[in-house]
Amino acid sequence: MLGSDLVAELRRRRLPVVALDLPDFDATEPGCLEALAAGQYGKPEWVANCAAYTAVDQAESEPDKAFLLNARMPGRLAEAAKRAGARFLQISTDFVFDGHADGWYDEAAHTNPLSVYGASKLEGEVRTLKADPNALVCRTAWLFGPNGRSFPRTILRAWRNRAALKVVVDQRGCPTYTAELARVLADLALKNPPGGIYHTAGSEDETWHGLAKRTIQAAHELGWHGPWPVVVEPIPTAEWPTPAERPANSRLSFEKCRRLGIRPMAPLDDCLRDFVQRLDPSDL
Ligand SMILES: NC(=O)c1ccc[n+]([C@@H]2O[C@H](COP(=O)([O-])OP(=O)(O)OC[C@H]3O[C@@H](n4cnc5c(N)ncnc54)[C@H](OP(=O)(O)O)[C@@H]3O)[C@@H](O)[C@H]2O)c1
Repeated sequence: MLGSDLVAELRRRRLPVVALDLPDFDATEPGCLEALAAGQYGKPEWVANCAAYTAVDQAESEPDKAFLLNARMPGRLAEAAKRAGARFLQISTDFVFDGHADGWYDEAAHTNPLSVYGASKLEGEVRTLKADPNALVCRTAWLFGPNGRSFPRTILRAWRNRAALKVVVDQRGCPTYTAELARVLADLALKNPPGGIYHTAGSEDETWHGLAKRTIQAAHELGWHGPWPVVVEPIPTAEWPTPAERPANSRLSFEKCRRLGIRPMAPLDDCLRDFVQRLDPSDL
């Protein structure tokens, strides 16, 4: 989901990009990492890793796979990128936090993941910065975009079949549109900032319930057919148990990026409208 939008953003800026993906490039294969380090894919200035194990609930029963892809792989990629003479950019997550803080999390805030996925991504951060302290670790959150599975897409599918939905209201985060995240990541890299952690999430906080309502509203205004009016009932997390525990508050402060002169992401409703416009209603 993010990888395809990042490639599109860099090509839009006429920056030369080599997009590597399975099955040709498997970031867990030593041969692929060796080829990257040896310059067989060119002489990159940056290597950005958008690959990960992203099935948050499934990770609870597949910790080995999650740790391979989210912890060991970024460390090895950071090594290979350094050998290729490139800076490395790793994507991480708001799920490194336990959500017990009242306000917005900055980059120095205490981490305490609640899930296997969060723990694996946190270890990925540590391994990345150990392999290359000059790397960037960009934490983001609640992604949605036209090219992958996401909560807003699931909600649109559910809405078209049902006039009443139940959505969790006691979790709050920063929904992030992948096209806008790609813009911010490119801006950040072009500033050549010091190595370390950066929070790169959407500019507004919202609950899953609020995000569901605003997604449906955007689709309705854009002429999508679905039950209207629709009832979106707010429910507590306790009524929607999932294998992986999620933080109740994972709002990420954009302040560090803002101080570097990076424009915060567009308002959420604008992002949702653009997202819906780029979706094919028959292909949810
Ligand atoms: N989605 C969110 O809400 C969210 C929130 C916060 C942070 N993040 C982070 O943001 C980043 C991008 O997430 P996303 O949602 O765009 O992920 P995604 O759509 O699941 O894409 C991850 C990609 O990595 C590929 N991949 C898996 N193993 C690989 C390997 N060994 N070598 C090469 N590629 C491999 C996957 O291919 P297959 O599909 O073929 O396995 C998939 O295409 C990840 O680091 C994620 O942890 C995501």
